[in-house]
Amino acid sequence: MDMSVIDTILNRHSYRGRYTDEKVSRHDLRVIMEAGLAAPSGCNKQTTSLIGVDDKKILEKIISVIDPPVAETAPAMICVLTQRINAYRDKCFAIQDYSAAIENMLLAIEELGYKSCWYEGHITDDDRICDRIADILNVPKDYELVCILPVGRAESDINVPIKKEFNERAWFNGFNTNETEYRVNFESIGGFGFTSKKVVYAVGEHVEVIFNAIMTDTSYTFHVNVDDFKVTNTGSTVHISFIMPDHDVDVSYTSKNVMMYEPNTFSNSMNPAPIDQNDKDSWICPACGAKNTAKFCFECGTPRPKKDGE
Ligand SMILES: Cc1cc2nc3c(=O)[nH]c(=O)nc-3n(C[C@H](O)[C@H](O)[C@H](O)COP(=O)(O)O)c2cc1C
Repeated sequence: MDMSVIDTILNRHSYRGRYTDEKVSRHDLRVIMEAGLAAPSGCNKQTTSLIGVDDKKILEKIISVIDPPVAETAPAMICVLTQRINAYRDKCFAIQDYSAAIENMLLAIEELGYKSCWYEGHITDDDRICDRIADILNVPKDYELVCILPVGRAESDINVPIKKEFNERAWFNGFNTNETEYRVNFESIGGFGFTSKKVVYAVGEHVEVIFNAIMTDTSYTFHVNVDDFKVTNTGSTVHISFIMPDHDVDVSYTSKNVMMYEPNTFSNSMNPAPIDQNDKDSWICPACGAKNTAKFCFECGTPRPKKDGE
């Protein structure tokens, strides 16, 4: 699994469905717990402790006290403990400490291909399920069990929750500042040609425009008036991506037919015309550098440049 940290953060979602029977290796469980312990803590007081549970009998005991049940089919679980001690004077950062540890573990779980859910409200409510789980695990009274994280492979699809738009909760240079947005202009006829999820973007947003009108006998050159853009060809579509600058952006293309050939001189990229080195008529394509004898470049379709006097 090769994910960037940002991909892992953006792909993580709470999973509340059934888990497959596949066990979580002790190594993976330890890596996830190490990620939790690596989190920052106020004044480095390290108020968070963890108990990994992968023993089926103990898991069954824990599940039996969770009512209504959650994480019933999880093959492993991490129980999060906190010590509510002050970092300095009367400042206790225990909640922040264990929250940072939990998020680190959720990301490690995602990165390793497992799923989980932060179960805290469910077990710390008035019925104090958390205390019953703590008793099963012999947790001393000066530690509080605050959260359980099931770990396992998801059996079903994830339900992705709806979250507010970026600009409803995040701004630049002041509270609720209105951001200037810019347009991406391209030609799309009946969904053919260029398409994109939206056409108005804020500065710094990632833009992806898809070109879906590819013809195999045609070579395309894409034009985008930004400093830097990436063109990825998937075979059936071309993805053009860039970061939105502080101006409107025009996306267009020019194309050349690469199957054009002179009568009786079959020449294309699969089967280029043979070049006679002594042939004064051979020419080097100014666009792609290919050596040609025909009227059009067999590689890119560029016409032969005119000779003096032609
Ligand atoms: C402090 C806290 C307590 C939570 N407790 C529960 C819980 O008891 N049961 C539950 O199903 N989800 C619980 N969640 C998960 C949230 O419901 C979930 O993160 C939220 O709906 C957003 O979904 P996402 O995690 O997929 O982004 C808790 C999350 C946090 C941060």
